[in-house]
Amino acid sequence: MSVVAVLGAQWGDEAKGKIVDVLARDADIVARFSGGDNAGHTVINDQGEFVFHLVPCGVLWPDVQGLIGNGVVVAPDAFLDEVREIEGQGIDVQDRVLISERAHLVMPYHVVMDNLFEAAKGEGAIGTTGRGIGPAYTDKASRIGIRTADLLDLESLYPRMEYILKHHNAVITGGYDGEAVDLETMFDRCRDWSVGLKPFIGPVEHLIHDAADRGSNVIIEGAQGALLDLDHGTYPYVTSSHPTIGGAAHGLGLNPGQIDTVIGVFKAYSTRVGGGPFVTEITGAMGDEMRTLANEFGATTGRARRVGWFDSVVGRYSHRINGYTGLVVAKLDILDNFDEIKLCVAYDLDGERVWDFPGSAALLERCKPIYETHPGWHSSTRKLRKLEDLPRGARAYVDRLEELVGVPVDIISTGPHRDQTIMVKSVVQV
Ligand code: IMO
Ligand code: MG
Repeated sequence: MSVVAVLGAQWGDEAKGKIVDVLARDADIVARFSGGDNAGHTVINDQGEFVFHLVPCGVLWPDVQGLIGNGVVVAPDAFLDEVREIEGQGIDVQDRVLISERAHLVMPYHVVMDNLFEAAKGEGAIGTTGRGIGPAYTDKASRIGIRTADLLDLESLYPRMEYILKHHNAVITGGYDGEAVDLETMFDRCRDWSVGLKPFIGPVEHLIHDAADRGSNVIIEGAQGALLDLDHGTYPYVTSSHPTIGGAAHGLGLNPGQIDTVIGVFKAYSTRVGGGPFVTEITGAMGDEMRTLANEFGATTGRARRVGWFDSVVGRYSHRINGYTGLVVAKLDILDNFDEIKLCVAYDLDGERVWDFPGSAALLERCKPIYETHPGWHSSTRKLRKLEDLPRGARAYVDRLEELVGVPVDIISTGPHRDQTIMVKSVVQV
């Protein structure tokens, strides 16, 4: 009987999908609250290998209902394609996935704008996923967004869309030499989506609120990570939503008191995709080795991820924002064969020791990591399922990480498969 939020604690791609799949065994509902199909959540279990972008990954358990909250931005074709793909893999999701009436749509022109804006930034590009996420959230804030419920009232939508496209076409053609978006073509697509999406649109906020009140087990599936948060991340190298605990409540219509457990998912090291400061980044041959070993290539865009050592300044900061009750340490096995493993304990900023994560990208670019070095354990942790089986060095590393972040480790992930998991403590009450 609990509402458990599973949140990315670094820059995304921490293995949230795998962890949600593991925990969803005992869940009634799994719900997404932010982001869109910029997320790429990989799940590997006996049913196969799946990559989720919008559909909550708990649906691999047959009795779990997947909810997509008001805070998510939904690209209709991406969603419908994903449903088809998952069904093609033998998972029936009809009647089991519902999108909030309040969720905004990512329209094709948002994708066009995302890519035009990125190209225009040149060297200063964010390195977005190109999925139209920023422009969709911008429209939401500008009150010219289109929500799923609008697809069910096409008559009212037409004049709004006329105005919206007038506005956007002025930007696309005037400022960026792009091609104007045709109103009739766009409206025809809305007509198609109004049919295709209709069975999936519903009163998600009421459903989840009632479920929480009833004492059902709800898992909140985070996307992205704390350091990509629009306010708390490494702005401007962030996403346009709030993948943090405030966003979780807000993006599902829950009140904060209804969320009783907050799990921060960390990798045993760090990665980030796209531009922006990364104090513990490992470049050169060693970085390449780690990237290849860990297969750090994006599940959404296929881009090579930047890799680095674990950063406990980031860890403590992300705990401050999210208030973790427990941690996950994922991909521990990737560190199995290193001679030395570094852990960043603080930063050096122009000769001064810094413990708190600086608030600007410019300051972060000047920070140098202060490391402590742990001896490698040179022994496989892959597939281990019991804490006592961990080699002593690996155990010491996890203990130190727990101490530095200041939160107990509840789960250690020792491989991508659902079963390759050490449950230190049970997270979802049955
Ligand atoms: P999951 O859910 C890692 C990054 C992009 C870029 C920045 C802005 O799989 O952890 P956007 O397209 O959101 O405007 O891009 O955010 N980004 C992610 N990085 N994992 C993700 O999701 C991400 N979603 C967005 O690479 O730097
Ligand atoms: Mg991912």
